[in-house]
Amino acid sequence: MYHNSVGVVGTGYYLPSRILRNSDLEKLVDTSDEWIRARTGIRERRIVSEHEAASDLAVNAGAEAMKSAAVNPDEIDLVIVATLSPDMLFPSTACIVQHKLGLKRAFAFDIEAACSGFLFALSIAEQYITNGTCKTVLVIGAEVFSRIVDWQDRNTCVLFGDGAGAVILQKAETGSGIISIRLGSDGSGADLLKLPAGGSRLKTSHETIKDRQHFIKMNGKEIYKFATTAVVKAIKAALDEQTISSAEIDLLIPHQANIRIIECIAEKLKIPMGKVFVNLDKYGNTSSASIPIALCEALEQNRIKKGDIIVFVGFGAGLTWGTAIIKW
Ligand code: ACO
Repeated sequence: MYHNSVGVVGTGYYLPSRILRNSDLEKLVDTSDEWIRARTGIRERRIVSEHEAASDLAVNAGAEAMKSAAVNPDEIDLVIVATLSPDMLFPSTACIVQHKLGLKRAFAFDIEAACSGFLFALSIAEQYITNGTCKTVLVIGAEVFSRIVDWQDRNTCVLFGDGAGAVILQKAETGSGIISIRLGSDGSGADLLKLPAGGSRLKTSHETIKDRQHFIKMNGKEIYKFATTAVVKAIKAALDEQTISSAEIDLLIPHQANIRIIECIAEKLKIPMGKVFVNLDKYGNTSSASIPIALCEALEQNRIKKGDIIVFVGFGAGLTWGTAIIKW
């Protein structure tokens, strides 16, 4: 059954120009290019310049998406920025982006669902368009993880990168667009991936800074297990609901966390790797930006054509996960 016809009418992305290679990380922590490549598939990642923050990346990606959709600033009704590395706790990064892009008519807010954030934002945008509140929505995933990872912690600092990706959503032509979006959360896993201090639980103090509590803490093994089990279940359920077989998927665009996770998901679903988009070797895990950046690159590489069935899958802290099936 086709859900509603809301479709992607424009895309854009932005990556900072500075490249941090695995060999550079060897100088920071006790790691090796070989270990990082073998265990994660990552070769390099992008890192912001000193003066850049999430909103700057988001503005560049958003402007490109607006250009590709040929929409002008007055046409945007809503801006949603998915991020867990906002410019600051408040105001929302989306409000800063709204101002910088001159989107005078738009209302704007952030959504935080970690690496699933883009899919959560997509589902909100779809609802606003379907219920008639909005005609044109700008959804951006933007992250500056380099400011929140602990550059002394080899368990995490090798994994992440900075970047932003954006889409413009509008009512789609009949027979194309979003077929389904399904989201999930399991707060019992909240401790597995978190940034402990600086919120209302653990206020900033000399102790929290000394104990490095303002940086990401992760139980990599448990996140790995979750990603390779819950995510497979989620994709299967989404496909079953629409009576779409995994053989009918033209391109799977998974959250780019770890090549081993992606290969495991593809194997369990019997999707050949030729139908799976991977760019984590170049950018690492850019969290909520990873799916829209991958979508942009897949389009650039002509990996997507009209009528294709595209599946997005995201998973991350919370725990959260989400799938989207789109007929292009
Ligand atoms: N370099 C060298 N050695 C390392 C490094 C490193 N960068 N990191 C860990 N090790 C060591 C460990 O200390 C351990 O050593 P030990 O055996 O002496 O204790 C050994 O390597 C093996 O560690 P494991 O944790 O078992 O390694 P594993 O194969 O599980 O890979 C990894 C670790 C890459 C973190 C993996 O578990 C993973 O990808 N997990 C998922 C993480 C993820 O995707 N998180 C993001 C979710 S999305 C979001 O919301 C942001």
